[in-house]
Amino acid sequence: MTVALVPAAGRGERLGANGPKAMVSLHGLPLVAHAVRGLLSAGCVRHVVVAAPVDYLDAMTAALAGFEPVTVVPGGADRTASVRLALAAALERVPDAKIVLVHDAARAFTPPALVRSVTEAVAAGAPAVVPVLPVTDTVKRVDAAGVVVDTPSRVDLRAVQTPQGFAVDVLRRAYEAADVATDDAGLVERIGVPVHTVPGDVAAMKITTPFDLAVAEAVLAR
Ligand code: CTP
Ligand code: MG
Repeated sequence: MTVALVPAAGRGERLGANGPKAMVSLHGLPLVAHAVRGLLSAGCVRHVVVAAPVDYLDAMTAALAGFEPVTVVPGGADRTASVRLALAAALERVPDAKIVLVHDAARAFTPPALVRSVTEAVAAGAPAVVPVLPVTDTVKRVDAAGVVVDTPSRVDLRAVQTPQGFAVDVLRRAYEAADVATDDAGLVERIGVPVHTVPGDVAAMKITTPFDLAVAEAVLAR
């Protein structure tokens, strides 16, 4: 049994829209609804819990009215807090869940096939799974003054996407350690659990800036 958590409580400051990023509409649907639709149409997700900005609880609930079964809960001050709150709500509703996916509302156009491949990898025994893509840019480490320190080999670098999938007990333990990370697998690594990878998908790109939104719109129009 798989549940999905959708952190959607961010302010979307870098996008600079008039309101939270997850409520920005593309082709008539807010980003959060695109994200939830993708999760549900994968066919393997039993329940979705969305963490919404506290002042947009009603608006987000209304925006997701056509999708079942979905629960909207208030999010927290940072992404980690939002996921923690969504995880508690999900396990209350589906206590026998064995697999949990965590999926950013900002990755609104993630193909359902990617949702399935992450879920299947966890079901096959991996305690934690992240979708990854090779890094195409050369990456440099810099010091505080912006001067290059070194150039890590690109060969063993990966860009990480969502959904990230976990055995429920693994994510629960990771979140019991009071810590903050930009991705959930980061917390799992810190409790010493191996994180496996599956091939990601360019369509699972994160919408962060107005440029990203324009790219997503173009992809969607195809
Ligand atoms: N998120 C969340 N709760 C927070 C902050 C972020 O649920 N307190 C969610 C966002 O809604 C988003 C995901 O985490 O779906 C990834 O965060 P990001 O892309 O940084 O979104 P925002 O925080 O909204 O954007 P920004 O950092 O530009 O303000
Ligand atoms: Mg943010």
